[in-house]
Amino acid sequence: MMADVIAGVAGVTPATVSAPIVECVDILFLGAGIFLGKVDKSVSSFIENLDPSKVKCVVLFGSSAIIDSPVPQMRKKLEARGIAVAERSFSCKGAMGPVFSGHPDKDDLSALKKFTESFYI
Ligand SMILES: Cc1cc2nc3c(=O)[nH]c(=O)nc-3n(C[C@H](O)[C@H](O)[C@H](O)COP(=O)(O)O)c2cc1C
Repeated sequence: MMADVIAGVAGVTPATVSAPIVECVDILFLGAGIFLGKVDKSVSSFIENLDPSKVKCVVLFGSSAIIDSPVPQMRKKLEARGIAVAERSFSCKGAMGPVFSGHPDKDDLSALKKFTESFYI
């Protein structure tokens, strides 16, 4: 849902982390949730295999139920690889069973849309 909102603003087709970046991009929006305290291995692996010469800047987003945000984990991994990460990021609540059920909700997605638009104005 979050990737769809971003892709709608950016005018691109969203892709999963199973698709490596092959063409050079100015901004890569990269998002994750948290499972058992960590971002999914597929996201970590995408970051480990990301070619720094292909991406000018990564903008991070994510959702989680207990910890504040998945963003710091991703930021640390990207910066360790010398990949530029935008200071601004977007995080909101995500569901864990009944905890924060229904999130990201309409308001979360509307805030994400505004956040994304701010990179294109
Ligand atoms: C099985 C399971 C385990 C989760 N573990 C955590 C956790 O340890 N910490 C946390 O903050 N959120 C946790 N969450 C909440 C997820 O991070 C949240 O649902 C997030 O929005 C998932 O994003 P995704 O559906 O895009 O992967 C968990 C959710 C599930 C379903």
